[in-house]
Amino acid sequence: MLQEIYQPNPQYASTAAIKSMDEYHALMNKAKEDYEGFWGSYAKEKIDWFKPFDTVLNESEAPFYKWFEGGQLNVAHQCIDRHLATRKNKAAIIFEGDNGDQKILTYRELAYEVNRTANMFKNQFGITKGDRVVLYMPMIPEAAISMLACAKIGAIHSVVFGGFSAEALRDRIIDAQAKLVVTADGAYRKGNPYMLKPVVDEALSSGCECVKAVCVVERNGEEIHWEAGRDYAYNELVKNESSKCEAVPMESEDPLFLLYTSGSTGKPKGVQHSSAGYILWAQMTMEWVFDLKENDTYWCTADVGWITGHTYIVYGPLAAGATTIMFEGVPTFPDAGRCWKMVEEYQINQFYTAPTAIRLLHKTGEHEPKKYDLSSLRVLGTVGEPIDPAAWKWYYEEIGGGKCAIVDTYWQTETGGHMISPLPGATPIKPACATFPLPGIIAEVIDEEGHPTPVGEKGFMCITRPWPSMIRTIWGDPERFVKSYFGDCKKDGKPVYFTGDGAMVDEDNYITITGRTDDVINVSGHRMGTAEVEAAIKKHPNVAAVAVVGKPHPIKGEGIFAYIVLKAEDTLAEEIELIKEINNIIKKEIGAIALCDDIVFVPDLPKTRSGKIMRRILRSIVKNEEITQDTSTLEDPSIVGKIESIVKSCRL
Ligand code: WT7
Repeated sequence: MLQEIYQPNPQYASTAAIKSMDEYHALMNKAKEDYEGFWGSYAKEKIDWFKPFDTVLNESEAPFYKWFEGGQLNVAHQCIDRHLATRKNKAAIIFEGDNGDQKILTYRELAYEVNRTANMFKNQFGITKGDRVVLYMPMIPEAAISMLACAKIGAIHSVVFGGFSAEALRDRIIDAQAKLVVTADGAYRKGNPYMLKPVVDEALSSGCECVKAVCVVERNGEEIHWEAGRDYAYNELVKNESSKCEAVPMESEDPLFLLYTSGSTGKPKGVQHSSAGYILWAQMTMEWVFDLKENDTYWCTADVGWITGHTYIVYGPLAAGATTIMFEGVPTFPDAGRCWKMVEEYQINQFYTAPTAIRLLHKTGEHEPKKYDLSSLRVLGTVGEPIDPAAWKWYYEEIGGGKCAIVDTYWQTETGGHMISPLPGATPIKPACATFPLPGIIAEVIDEEGHPTPVGEKGFMCITRPWPSMIRTIWGDPERFVKSYFGDCKKDGKPVYFTGDGAMVDEDNYITITGRTDDVINVSGHRMGTAEVEAAIKKHPNVAAVAVVGKPHPIKGEGIFAYIVLKAEDTLAEEIELIKEINNIIKKEIGAIALCDDIVFVPDLPKTRSGKIMRRILRSIVKNEEITQDTSTLEDPSIVGKIESIVKSCRL
């Protein structure tokens, strides 16, 4: 562990939104003393309300908390229209294509495009308030435009990451009962076209009667199948629409979007976010955590298919009136200097990425940063998984030149925005540590009963008071919402939100996240439920049983490791063929992001006499750790040694 503490750069601290730890503590104390007063005054100040709210927080139906009831707003108005008076010619979105093409949309142009698209959704496809629209899109401006167009007319979008398979897309379309799917023919990656529309065609081939139309953006111009009466050309239709569109007044608690994410069991959950609370915190964290200034250019490398893309490419930056970069390509094409070249060209001030990308760029392009002028950078962000000290150090020194704050932002799809993070002008940073909860966020490391865990001991990472941008429910399954998040930990006898992560507090109260405590794994910062991968693998006719666990991986953080028991032993001879078949099923059921890094065939899984698989043992074997669990209660204790030797022989 690095022991150093990195003080905020005084040059930036003097102009930062929160300038010192004293200011931080003052804000935090204010929140603790008068929680509703704290949030109410920010909500009043930051949101351009159509109608002011009556109450700040309604806890009467906990854990279905309601924020800013009585208020009306429109998130697209908050992100675009309200800026037109002062920023109409400021760049809102700068798009850089995979091939280096550039396109700039000012706030005025963005308003124009969003309004035409919103009118098209309304007039051509009959989309109205509350309808669900699935977006299966590449990283092009039309993705952001479609999200905002939905917001403008009160439709609920559900963006599905373009790496998900047809099956995964179909499940999400059906669960949300979407009326419209917006997609593109495809886009470009590493200099080559890739396709999305065929995946939509396949998804819609069965069970999606809810979908009335598919609206297709032309991006790469490749040939696609066209279903008359169902498929419509975005680029053609949008031309006929007016660029004036009234923003539909939305209640504070009206859902803004759904975003499906993996849980420890079962199918992905449709995390439902609200309008007012979500946009408030998206905007505030942009200002606090990234220390955004009027002339800054901000770049988050995520994909809009994940929550990071929602909050920190589209909604947060635009609500804050920033210039946000949207990048279609990958950080390693044409070489591992691509990001640094873009930082130089656009004079990026805030750069936000995942530890997996930092490790990859370090490994494949250690000397690339030296070739570019990175002096515009002020804040560097990381998100998605714990960052290791070596990656932290490289990021700090080689990218940040030893002068930038690194904000290690801890949060989740469910939290809507950052929960724990350094503040660039205030927090003395310990490397690879998320540090302190943001002002107003009551995040605590506790045991099941709500007692703080002693210094240096692992506990549950909980958020013990509701916060404005929190998940409101799981779409269509309120019981699962309560069970998933409010079933494990209590404080003062009342259920509190448990993140699923473990964490530790040190003697200075710094919080370090230690990772998931459940069966969720984190592959390259992408969240994957082991149950989902197992369900896919079980579809192979020769598979009798399977257990999937995460395995430490030098670049991805975690890789996917599968223990498989086959039905007939004689098939072992065809292992390579089987592995191929199994991976093909995973690709079809979920997508390439869920492919297994390792598959081992074992004679049986370690099961208790009641048939429960002892996953902890399987995790220990993969990590090459000593098995400390009691194996005497297993149905067949000798299986542990057998599995160990199979895994060891694979390692050689
Ligand atoms: C899980 C949430 C939040 C956007 C990207 C992922 C892990 C996230 C950190 C961090 C350690 C982190 C947690 C969390 N995680 N950020 N800074 N340090 N772990 O969103 O897909 O909902 O995943 O990512 O395990 O629970 P997500």
